[in-house]
Amino acid sequence: MTPRRGREVRLLSYPQGEVTSEHFATVDVDVPDPAPGQVLVRNTFTSVDPGMRLRLRESGPAGYFNAFPLKAPMDDIWAVGEVIESRAEGFEPGDTVWHAKGWRDYAIVTAGEPALAGIATLARIDVSVAPAETYLGPLGAMGVTAYAGLIDAAELREGDIVWISAAAGAVGSLAAQIAKLRGHYTIGSAGSDEKVRFLLDELGLDAAFNYRAGPVADQLREAAPDGIDVYFDNVGGDHLEAALATLRKWGRAALCGAISEYESTDPTPGPSNLFQATANNLTLRGFRGSAYQHRLPDVTRELGGWLAEGRLHYRSTIIDGLERAPEALMRVLSGDTTGKALVRIP
Ligand SMILES: NC(=O)c1ccc[n+]([C@@H]2O[C@H](COP(=O)([O-])OP(=O)(O)OC[C@H]3O[C@@H](n4cnc5c(N)ncnc54)[C@H](OP(=O)(O)O)[C@@H]3O)[C@@H](O)[C@H]2O)c1
Repeated sequence: MTPRRGREVRLLSYPQGEVTSEHFATVDVDVPDPAPGQVLVRNTFTSVDPGMRLRLRESGPAGYFNAFPLKAPMDDIWAVGEVIESRAEGFEPGDTVWHAKGWRDYAIVTAGEPALAGIATLARIDVSVAPAETYLGPLGAMGVTAYAGLIDAAELREGDIVWISAAAGAVGSLAAQIAKLRGHYTIGSAGSDEKVRFLLDELGLDAAFNYRAGPVADQLREAAPDGIDVYFDNVGGDHLEAALATLRKWGRAALCGAISEYESTDPTPGPSNLFQATANNLTLRGFRGSAYQHRLPDVTRELGGWLAEGRLHYRSTIIDGLERAPEALMRVLSGDTTGKALVRIP
């Protein structure tokens, strides 16, 4: 029998500065049969995440996910798909699953093998609750990250005024809605007037601004004249400095990501006003969604409930075709996506 052929995206070289399509190739490969304990999955959607930029380096930040090796399959990228062959107990052909062998059309996945620190280990997902791709957004790691950032890292408290940066993005749009739906005065920022309209009109935030339209600190102060209590940081840089200047006493910042620094080739300086943390008894806490996977049932209940009631707005930007995954990453990094960026594999 001729072996099954599949396609996968490989990294050819590590970008210095901006990522381009030339750094990648989509190649044809033989897909082996599943061994005992494994399943063969036909991927339908694969995730595209800004944090991948940190892994397009010979060595990424210490303690973070592994750097991608060159000219090899790119593992540890979230995906959903359908099991077409199973030699693993508990999985049947036809099951819809999530796992972490994205950026390819066919994936051999070993059941029980921890992936993405355990949060993307092969698991069945319930498509009667929501379409499969929703599990790459609100009902998966994006939801857990948004939820844990606000509730655990920032210890959200009644009456807190909350600012979320990159608020029109995958994590940001969920964090913003969690804060708003829990009754907080919620401010969002994003990089275009169109995204600002999305934040105000669709997500119902109390205030929003375009960070490209003027100094972030000034616009934040205008949106929150009395200051903020919680900052959900997706951006770092001038956004974090603006938050430090605006957080009230005992305020808290959840450091989710620092996308403004990911493509930089030089070491980026820390915030120039870090002393504000001491001056105002602030807490700045970095966190990773993967460390809070025990929150998945809370996310399923709260975000899943709001989704079912039509109160949580879930937007995604879908890019069709596996070979366009690098282009999708470039679009995420440049701000040319709204909500969760996904590649659909037809
Ligand atoms: N800690 C964790 O476990 C965890 C998990 C997932 C993601 N993250 C982090 O969370 C952040 C958001 O990730 P995501 O997956 O939700 O992506 P996303 O927000 O959907 O996409 C990234 C967005 O960042 C904005 N951006 C890009 N460059 C910027 C800059 N220089 N200044 C300000 N904004 C910029 C762009 O929107 P604009 O149009 O608004 O510029 C872009 O759409 C990233 O920092 C990511 O690394 C952390």
